Parts: sequence; C-alpha cells; structure tokens
Amino acid sequence: MLTGAGLSAESGLGTFRDKDGLWTRYDLNEVATPEGFAKNPKLVHEFYNARRANSLDAQPNAAHAALARLQRARPDRVTLITQNVDDLLERAGAPDVIHMHGALTGALCASCGHRWPAPRVMDPDSPCPACARPATRPDIVWFGEMPYHMGRIEAALQGADLFVAIGTSGNVYPAAGFVQEAGLAGAQTLELNLEPSATVSLFDDVRFGSATAIIPAWVAEVLDDRG
Ligand code: OAD
Repeated sequence: MLTGAGLSAESGLGTFRDKDGLWTRYDLNEVATPEGFAKNPKLVHEFYNARRANSLDAQPNAAHAALARLQRARPDRVTLITQNVDDLLERAGAPDVIHMHGALTGALCASCGHRWPAPRVMDPDSPCPACARPATRPDIVWFGEMPYHMGRIEAALQGADLFVAIGTSGNVYPAAGFVQEAGLAGAQTLELNLEPSATVSLFDDVRFGSATAIIPAWVAEVLDDRG
C-alpha cells in the first residue's frame, strides 16, 4: 500500500496541496529541489528543521496504528510504501516502512553520500562525520531526484493482489503511477482518501472519509474477512 500526507494530517502535520497546505505557503522550487538547496541551503535547512520539529512533537494517530497492526499481522504480505518523511508509522509499531521520499530522521552528505541520524536541528555548515566537508543535507528526495527503493517497490507492485492508496492526492510521480502499474499487473485497486485524488478514476474501488475513521475500519475488515 502507498501512503501520503493525509495519513498524518490528523496528527497535526500539514499536507502539501490542501487549503493552507505547505506548498501554498512555501515555493517548492526554493525548498524542495537541489537547485534551491544550492542557492540557499540555510532556508532549506530551516524549512526541514521546522518539519522535523513538528514530526518529533507529533504522535501517531489511529490510522498509523491500524496500518502497523495490519503489517504485524501479515508481515510477509503487507508492503508499506510511504511518501511521508515523518516516522509516525514506525512509532506506531510498523516493522518495515519503505520511505520512497526519504526521512526527516536522516542526514546525508551531499559530497560523499555518507548517511547518519539527523540531529533535531541541522545546519549547512556542520561537517560530514565521514569526509568533514560542510555539505550536510536532509536525507529527503527532492523534485528532480530519483525516489529511493524503486527496485523493491516495482517488485511489490508486480506481485500485488491488492494495491491501496491512502491520503495522497495523486499529483507526484512516480508514486501517482503506482495504481496503474499494479492494476495492469493484475491487482485490485482501492483509494482511501478524504477527497478524490487526481487519479481516482483509475481505482476499482474508493472510500472517502478522514484517515482515522476509515483506515481502522478497513483494517478490521481485512483482518476479519481474509483470515
Ligand atoms: P498532498 O498534500 O498532495 O495530498 C494530501 C491528500 O491527503 C489529499 O488527497 C487530501 O484529500 C488527503 N487528506 C487530507 N486530510 C486527510 C485526512 N484527515 N484523512 C485522509 N486524507 C486526508 O500530499 P501527498 O499526496 O502525500 O514530496 O504529496 C505527495 C508528495 O508531494 C509529498 O511526498 C511531497 C510533496 O511535494 C516531496 O516533497 C518530494
């Protein structure tokens, strides 16, 4: 299954494209592209430091808990792919979350590629622990960069019997294309969202409602109905 910002909305983390969403207040070209980082690394770190603080202070909600419960109950059958950079699924107890857009908990050296746990506040001048160059960046996938773990994701899409998209607006590729890929490979497809996504017509089934209402109910059905 694929999750998006709507999953964490009721934990108090803003979405990107809803009314008052992050991309209505910030220019994504300035804070979420390699070019923006090259131009003004301080601004980019400030943006992600605020996201990291919000994420660390937030608590997982009932939808995170339900998805974590589902993955614990079916460890070999549930692939959890998230576009979210928060760690609320892990903190709800999900054993294996694929962060295709990176994670706020990670730091990456733009010079040598070394990775290490991000401190709460990151700063462009702090040196990389491996090569000592001042090239510290958040371990986040920006627009124009290749999402992480695509090989594992492709394999899961090809082998899926059910693909579920949760709380994502279907605007950002390649994630927005997963429904079509899984459907062509033979999976049933289901959208669980507050409002219809840009790709809603590609799904076999849809259910609308807030994540904390519809996800626990859907997970309860899956665990009861499919043994
Ligand atoms: P968006 O902000 O584009 O979409 C949020 C989705 O969540 C919408 O479909 C809303 O209807 C839905 N939503 C809002 N509140 C909800 C709630 N309480 N319960 C259920 N659904 C709710 O966020 P994403 O689709 O995740 O990438 O955005 C995809 C990517 O675009 C992000 O990973 C990020 C962003 O730019 C990068 O920064 C690379």
